[in-house]
Amino acid sequence: MTDTETNAETETSIDAGTGSGAGTDTADAEIDPDREATTPVPIADPELSAEAVGRVESILEDGRLADGPEVRAFEEEFAAYCGTETGVATANGTTALHAALEAVGLEDGDAVITSPFSFVASANAIRLAGGTPVFADIDPETYTLDPADVERVLDERDDIVGILPVHLYGLPADMPALCDIADARDLFVIEDACQAHGAKIDGRRVGEFGDAACFSFYPTKNMTTGEGGMVVTDRDDVADRAASYVNHGRDMSGTGSYDHVALGHNYRMTSVAAAIGRVQLERVAEFNRARRENAAFYDERLGDLPLETPTEPTGSRHVYHQYTVRTDDRDALAETLSEREVGTGIYYETPIHRQPAYETVSTAAASLPEAERAGDEVLSLPVHPALSERDQRTVVEAVRDHFTTQ
Ligand SMILES: Cc1ncc(COP(=O)(O)O)c(C=O)c1O
Repeated sequence: MTDTETNAETETSIDAGTGSGAGTDTADAEIDPDREATTPVPIADPELSAEAVGRVESILEDGRLADGPEVRAFEEEFAAYCGTETGVATANGTTALHAALEAVGLEDGDAVITSPFSFVASANAIRLAGGTPVFADIDPETYTLDPADVERVLDERDDIVGILPVHLYGLPADMPALCDIADARDLFVIEDACQAHGAKIDGRRVGEFGDAACFSFYPTKNMTTGEGGMVVTDRDDVADRAASYVNHGRDMSGTGSYDHVALGHNYRMTSVAAAIGRVQLERVAEFNRARRENAAFYDERLGDLPLETPTEPTGSRHVYHQYTVRTDDRDALAETLSEREVGTGIYYETPIHRQPAYETVSTAAASLPEAERAGDEVLSLPVHPALSERDQRTVVEAVRDHFTTQ
């Protein structure tokens, strides 16, 4: 359930200035009843404003389409939003993770603990950087890495060099506990914040906790650039290496355009993407507030049913990239909602260690009961900011009817 006490705060610098803290009892009043209802109700509905279109037109007229000042400006603004020194823009979230792992110095064969209950990109990035993903189980309430299980894995192996927690569905992983573990064992931490723009723990935004953090700007995310990603960090050495890595290992300090000091990739963001991202960043507080209001609306109306609604631990600020319920009747509920034209998603039915692409990875043999059980029971409902109140009532009625008319 949403914790109302700790989340009365509103976003500051780029706050649209409307509404109040989510999770209150006033969800009805705060949802704009004039928003058009859409049937069917989609699971995601990215919103691009006329301003974003205008900014893209300016870029197209200017003709500087690839890397350039627009990308530098977006990097600065997004890093400031996260409370970090530097941002390095990338082509997508996967390349952000890969570049960050290279930038912290991951070497071939190094092992990194991550979550098995995530989009496959979290673990793929470790493999792409030459490392071995080692899976620890998740906490069944938060769906994020369970620090106690991370300790168990660390006690069993002596080749772990880092931890890559995932802030799943918009809820931060337990960063204070995971950072303590990492500090005690001298491990790096890279946050996979691809689903959690603006999420917080004790007032600190995700991205501020690890050696680096990585974001995705895919269209369904809390803010988008079309395709795009970002590494944010306070470490100058990591920022320099990541910036170089995404630019074919170029010497970023020198004046020579074609001096390459390390192996790298072309993982650069385009100026068109950055232009969209800058406008979306101005609106992310508004988007997150709408997501939280939508989540509170569901919490209030679904809490008495035989399903689990999302948890928001004290001190955490969830940004509801997904509103994910859990029930052992998941498949039938998904079927009912599909018949009622309510879009749903299962993120993720097959945990990463059970994916066919992981058959050859030795650590895929692990038994991770909580991740496997979650894969059988979770279902995400539409929570995006474009939902009208009527859309939400359609969702609530369909879910309630499923459980009450059986
Ligand atoms: C948790 C997580 N990690 C990584 C990624 C990869 O981001 P992208 O799709 O932008 O490459 C995603 C995106 O779906 C994600 O949800």
